[in-house]
Amino acid sequence: MACPLKNLLFFFLFTFLPFPTTAQTYRNISLGSSLTALKDDNSSWPSPSAEFAFGFRQIAKDGFLLAIWFDKIPNQTIVWSANGDNLVPKGSKVELTVDGEFILNDATGKRIWCTQSAGSGVAYASMLNTGNFVLANGNSSNVWESFSYPTDTILPSQTLNQNGILYARYTATNYSTGRFLFSLKPDGNLVLATTRFPQNTPNQAYWSVKNPNIGFRFIFNESGFMYVASKNGSLLSTISSNTVSMQDFYQRATLEYDGVFRHYVYPKSTSSSAQRWPKVWSTSSSPFVPPNICTSIMESTGGGACGLNSFCTIEEQGPTCQCPNGYSFIDPEDERRGCKQNFAPQSCGETSKEETDLFEFQELNYANCWGGDYALFEGVPEDWCRQNCLDDCFCAVAVYNSRGQCYKKRLPFSNGAIDPNITGKTLIKVGKQNSTVKWGGGSITEKKDNKTLILFGSIILSGSGVLNFLLPLITYLVVSRAYSRKARVCQPYPVISGMNLKHFTYEELNNATNQFKEELGRGASAIVFIGVLASDNGKSVAVKSLDTSVRENDLEFKAEVSAIGRTNHRNLVQLLGFCYEGEHRILVYEFMSNGSLAGFLFGEPMPNWYQRRKIALEIARGLLYLHEECSSQIVHCDIKPQNILLDDSLTARISDFGLAKLLRIDQTLTTTGIRGTKGYVAPEWWKRLPITAKVDIYSYGILLLEIIFCRKHFEAKVEDEGQMILADWAYDCYKQNKLHELFKNNDEAMHDMKMVEKYVMIAIWCIQEDPSLRPTMKKVALMLEGTIEVSAPPDPSSFISSIL
Ligand SMILES: *[C@@H]1O[C@H](CO)[C@@H](O)[C@H](O)[C@H]1NC(C)=O
Ligand SMILES: *[C@@H]1O[C@H](CO)[C@@H](O)[C@H](O)[C@H]1NC(C)=O
Ligand SMILES: *[C@@H]1O[C@H](CO)[C@@H](O)[C@H](O)[C@H]1NC(C)=O
Ligand SMILES: *[C@@H]1O[C@H](CO)[C@@H](O)[C@H](O)[C@H]1NC(C)=O
Ligand SMILES: *[C@@H]1O[C@H](CO)[C@@H](O)[C@H](O)[C@H]1NC(C)=O
Ligand SMILES: *[C@@H]1O[C@H](CO)[C@@H](O)[C@H](O)[C@H]1NC(C)=O
Ligand SMILES: *[C@@H]1O[C@H](CO)[C@@H](O)[C@H](O)[C@H]1NC(C)=O
Ligand SMILES: *[C@@H]1O[C@H](CO)[C@@H](O)[C@H](O)[C@H]1NC(C)=O
Ligand SMILES: *[C@@H]1O[C@H](CO)[C@@H](O)[C@H](O)[C@H]1NC(C)=O
Ligand SMILES: *[C@@H]1O[C@H](CO)[C@@H](O)[C@H](O)[C@H]1NC(C)=O
Ligand SMILES: *[C@@H]1O[C@H](CO)[C@@H](O)[C@H](O)[C@H]1NC(C)=O
Ligand SMILES: *[C@@H]1O[C@H](CO)[C@@H](O)[C@H](O)[C@H]1NC(C)=O
Repeated sequence: MACPLKNLLFFFLFTFLPFPTTAQTYRNISLGSSLTALKDDNSSWPSPSAEFAFGFRQIAKDGFLLAIWFDKIPNQTIVWSANGDNLVPKGSKVELTVDGEFILNDATGKRIWCTQSAGSGVAYASMLNTGNFVLANGNSSNVWESFSYPTDTILPSQTLNQNGILYARYTATNYSTGRFLFSLKPDGNLVLATTRFPQNTPNQAYWSVKNPNIGFRFIFNESGFMYVASKNGSLLSTISSNTVSMQDFYQRATLEYDGVFRHYVYPKSTSSSAQRWPKVWSTSSSPFVPPNICTSIMESTGGGACGLNSFCTIEEQGPTCQCPNGYSFIDPEDERRGCKQNFAPQSCGETSKEETDLFEFQELNYANCWGGDYALFEGVPEDWCRQNCLDDCFCAVAVYNSRGQCYKKRLPFSNGAIDPNITGKTLIKVGKQNSTVKWGGGSITEKKDNKTLILFGSIILSGSGVLNFLLPLITYLVVSRAYSRKARVCQPYPVISGMNLKHFTYEELNNATNQFKEELGRGASAIVFIGVLASDNGKSVAVKSLDTSVRENDLEFKAEVSAIGRTNHRNLVQLLGFCYEGEHRILVYEFMSNGSLAGFLFGEPMPNWYQRRKIALEIARGLLYLHEECSSQIVHCDIKPQNILLDDSLTARISDFGLAKLLRIDQTLTTTGIRGTKGYVAPEWWKRLPITAKVDIYSYGILLLEIIFCRKHFEAKVEDEGQMILADWAYDCYKQNKLHELFKNNDEAMHDMKMVEKYVMIAIWCIQEDPSLRPTMKKVALMLEGTIEVSAPPDPSSFISSIL
């Protein structure tokens, strides 16, 4: 008679070896007894202690499972089942026939499962207190027992013999044979392995205990020990040991649907507050076997612990699976089926160049998806890796690590795992959903000249009049097309390609800065240290360490490396390299020995007029380069004297060391009677107007006035309130033709008043409230050089007055 059931087909163990048992049967189930699967019916046979029960459990809408469960705990956890792969409908019946065979028929009478024990002298059946359901003969010897056909759970006193297997169920609620197995193999090794997961790939062992002597049995005893024993009973290897008494606890060890084998205990006393199945593993610090399944399943032909296109993370309760952004679970009820793309993939037609703009990366740190790469590049910086994958329609995922290796992968990707022990990051290409970028309350849709607009810098705003507010803006990457194409060349100056950025190790920088000892400056989210590069003839460098607890710093880091990394201009501070290792985000710049323009301009001795004019022109050229000579437009957003550094030859170099710096206290103090406090920050910011390169022109105008008059823009200690704000005072004096009043001491500029007036006019043009009235940086540079004439500027505040 054919029984269509896995229990009989797989690994036939001791079925016909009668076991002597001290039968503590509560009630013998006599031949001819039966149970019917009915709703709201207690169709079950309990054990004498009533701790276990055998019978039907409804687990699907019209699906019943013939099972054994813990009957006294609220969840009635199932520990064994007969027909997980073939649920039966209401009305199905299990019967102990007069021939001594136990048969499950569905409602139509079709045989679903049987014990194949006809003719072996079965006299009765019994649900034992151990959780074992047995068919016994007249001598009370077991002819058939459920302990010999385990499903996913093993109970105390149960053993697993050679070839014995536990199969995980399919999902938490689906009792079909799942994707993982636990087995004592014929060679005596204990293994956890995948079963044709995913998509019928060969089984792969992901955990094993090898036994020097052939393991004969896997034993789970009542004290909570699990071990492999040899034929003569000697202990070969312990899987779980235990020092506390297990008398007051129910126990089970289950291979769960997620591939993790767990030993659970549950207090028998209902008064206990902890009414759940906590895990115990006393030999191992981890409550799981294997300790980290995410990193244990990494086979070249498999999909990983979570299936294809997904990432596995180990958490307190075990592994969890997640899809990257832009992907979703194929079946939310069964996460291990993997994830599918929700966006149209990049096409490989001729238009693919423009198409790259439609994609961006989701970045996962400490993540990898091992194997399946079709290209590997070594010694490349991350932005190169990103761009290379973005430009390549076949590339769906790039993995980049601290050794400068860039792996390109196509779909589906496999073995995705996130773990603190993984170095490197995974970049997943996703379709951009929205092209407009929200900022504050307004929307910025700036795409001028099809160039990239990159804003970086921290903007601190101060409002006008009595109401003085600070609105810190966060480093903001407006359009994520930050990663320029290979051919992106900044003219007319020679360009150091992004490839030449040095990748520093943390140890190297730690050495270079003498354990980050000497601080050069400090911002809200970064500290700059001085360092000496042993590898580069003792070259001095400024090492800027970003506070990685600030999330935006990751953006800032990328903005700087990708935008500034490709620039090379004698009026910009050169980025030499970076360190992206673990938590560390560090940028390495050339060191500027003569400090910042703020110190130079407002310190002693006062720089001469010639030096000041030279510096003003140099800053203008640096900005011109950022705005117009790179193919991706860069808006600095934080132009102020603190961010202009001076090199050995006193050449001005734009830097961004002041990022995220707060306004000095004196600048935040405002008194009444001032016509709008003008900081370096253009009014567009707090009026939520579109942000363009004109914000830098505004800041430059304020800076230019400071350079001309060697005076801070805001000074509280002045005789006349009208002199507090340099821009207001300068405009008044210009109107009244009294610019000389602005100079203190014996400035040689006073002998060059025509030039001074021209510079003031340029500055007033720059600080026009209406952005469209401000000249471009190109025009500013031409005016400073004297190539073009400067016309009389209007009152800068006419625009703002008309709007407010
Ligand atoms: C089911 O069991 C409960 C308690 O064990 C009992 O009160 C109830 O009458 C039973 N129902 C049937 C149909 O036997
Ligand atoms: C019971 O055991 C005796 C001796 O071990 C054996 O002769 C007899 O056949 C057994 N009876 C059944 C029903 O198995
Ligand atoms: C169960 O049946 C066996 C064999 O008929 C008998 O020896 C035993 O005493 C019975 N047990 C109970 C509790 O009725
Ligand atoms: C359980 O999963 C299997 C495999 O996907 C499926 O064929 C079966 O219908 C599922 N059973 C239930 C009750 O959902
Ligand atoms: C379970 O096995 C351990 C280790 O072999 C042993 O120390 C303990 O006494 C056993 N407990 C029982 C109830 O057999
Ligand atoms: C049991 O077998 C192992 C080897 O398989 C041997 O080392 C051990 O001494 C044996 N113990 C007994 C009690 O025979
Ligand atoms: C009982 O089941 C619920 C829902 O599935 C679960 O949240 C809870 O942890 C379970 N309790 C035990 C003791 O397993
Ligand atoms: C990380 O690696 C260390 C050393 O290799 C190991 O001790 C630790 O268990 C690993 N952690 C995880 C979560 O895998
Ligand atoms: C795209 O825009 C829609 C509507 O404005 C919004 O609901 C959605 O969250 C946006 N998606 C992204 C990724 O910004
Ligand atoms: C910008 O791009 C659009 C479409 O990609 C094109 O039609 C337009 O001519 C471009 N504008 C400039 C100034 O290149
Ligand atoms: C850092 O300094 C230590 C001690 O001087 C030296 O052994 C080590 O090689 C240095 N590491 C690097 C990367 O230069
Ligand atoms: C600039 O730096 C050089 C070299 O460090 C030094 O000799 C010079 O005095 C500095 N000049 C000023 C104005 O600080």
